[in-house]
Amino acid sequence: MKIGAPKESAADEARVAMTPQSAKDLAKLGYECLIESGAGVSAGFDDKAYEEAGVQVVKGADLWKQADVVAKVRPPTTAEAKKLSEGQTLISFFYPAANEKLLETAKAQKANVIAMDMVPRISRAQKMDALSSMANIAGYRAVIEAGNNFGRFFTGQVTAAGKVPPAKVLVVGAGVAGLAAVGTATSLGAITYAFDVRPEVAEQIESMGAEFVFLDFEEEQTDGAAIGGYAAVSSPEFAAAQLAKFREIAPEMDIVITTALIPNRDAPVLWTKDMVDMMKPGSVIVDLAAERGGNCELTVKDEKIVTENGVTIVGYTDFPSRMATQSSLLYSTNIRHMMADLTPEKDGQVVHDMEDDVIRGATVTHQGEITWPPPPPKTQAIAAQPKKAPPKELTPEEKRAAEAAAFRKETTTQVGLLGIGGALILLVGLIAPASFMQHFIVFVLSVFVGFQVIWNVSHSLHTPLMAVTNAISSIIILGALMQVGSNSFLIMILAAIGIFMAAVNIFGGFLVTRRMLAMFQKS
Ligand code: NAI
Repeated sequence: MKIGAPKESAADEARVAMTPQSAKDLAKLGYECLIESGAGVSAGFDDKAYEEAGVQVVKGADLWKQADVVAKVRPPTTAEAKKLSEGQTLISFFYPAANEKLLETAKAQKANVIAMDMVPRISRAQKMDALSSMANIAGYRAVIEAGNNFGRFFTGQVTAAGKVPPAKVLVVGAGVAGLAAVGTATSLGAITYAFDVRPEVAEQIESMGAEFVFLDFEEEQTDGAAIGGYAAVSSPEFAAAQLAKFREIAPEMDIVITTALIPNRDAPVLWTKDMVDMMKPGSVIVDLAAERGGNCELTVKDEKIVTENGVTIVGYTDFPSRMATQSSLLYSTNIRHMMADLTPEKDGQVVHDMEDDVIRGATVTHQGEITWPPPPPKTQAIAAQPKKAPPKELTPEEKRAAEAAAFRKETTTQVGLLGIGGALILLVGLIAPASFMQHFIVFVLSVFVGFQVIWNVSHSLHTPLMAVTNAISSIIILGALMQVGSNSFLIMILAAIGIFMAAVNIFGGFLVTRRMLAMFQKS
């Protein structure tokens, strides 16, 4: 069978559904690959690159006629849908809920349509989840776009010209795009905060080095997994508490990236005009939900605006297309995995198995029937997590008893260790000379004290700690001072050099420690 990718007809679409690399992989599945001439140019793949990968470059009209499977990025236009023929398979984004007429056309043409946006969010289907791969790119690009419009560094710096505070970034909605934005912002060094209505993402956010914005609010939230890994609509009280929290932190935020969405609904307005008014001039808002009305009240779809108080609001809806090479590589890989699922024998023959959860979920028309919406998948959604029982509240008596038990356990261990240490020293004392024992005991004690001191210091402070121990270790200066008055010229010179070097160590150590500690202090 032949699989082909046409040139995208939308003027602002730079992506392509087949890359030279994915074509090589499709060939391994037994398919002959076709590409419309010029289809990959905007994504950085010219016809020659396809030819070298063994792809046949054809004219657009021929492609629709010859290909048994047509792979596209955007939903087909009505004219394109009419080119589909009986038994032909179309794989592309389709958004069936919003494209009823298109569904009817595909049904009338008796084509089998697989909507990449309908791939269920189950573990096995992750490699075909094009919505996630595109959202990941959008989240990354949102931070880059924000940086492009923001006049300062993301990371805090201590430079000779002065101290630069780090930028504060808030990510609202920690789904795929949100988590990608959190990862990018933290890796650029910004202080990153994130909020989501699903509390189970808090751990993920914190493991990425960002801070989860908790609401002081008790609500029994619907299990996100129940509706395919997506959030449910929150109560008006919860929404009000959320807005109050945002209002509280708005003046501090330099960059806000909003990605909150509940499928098949308009985006909730979470960043209101008064919050924008509270932000500092030069701040940036990137609204990824612009397509569905926007999370920010002032967002203008597909445009970048600057408010009167100097806040830039970016409402672009084509972030993946703005990184066309990367997104084409990922999207074509998603398509290739879908084809692997459709080709169990790797013999270049499509087997449209409607018993397969993933294929069934994504198929919107099949053999002249509309098969959307699909039944719920048999396998549970990825986000399905057993609810943990909340930790039991201890009574004051129980707490005291637990503390006493912990103290007893710790004391027993310490006494045991001291006993063993003492016995070992006695043993060594039996054979070693007295002068050695004196030094040895001092050595053992200093190791013990040093260990106790360092063990209790938090890891993030180990570097400043090293700097300060560096300064303290320069007690060498005492020895050098005692020797500097020596009669021997050589000893005097060596002692002077020693004093000089140790002084650099002392002052340098304290200076570096001060600077480093300043980085941990809130301004
Ligand atoms: P997702 O469904 O994985 O994530 C959305 C997150 O928003 C979920 O974690 C959900 O719990 C959260 N959420 C829902 N209501 C909320 C509320 N009231 N407050 C806080 N969080 C809330 O969606 P994904 O794939 O991460 O996409 C995010 C957004 O990015 C969508 O609006 C999508 O359309 C958009 N997008 C935009 C692109 C662009 O070029 N502008 C490209 C790709 C995606």
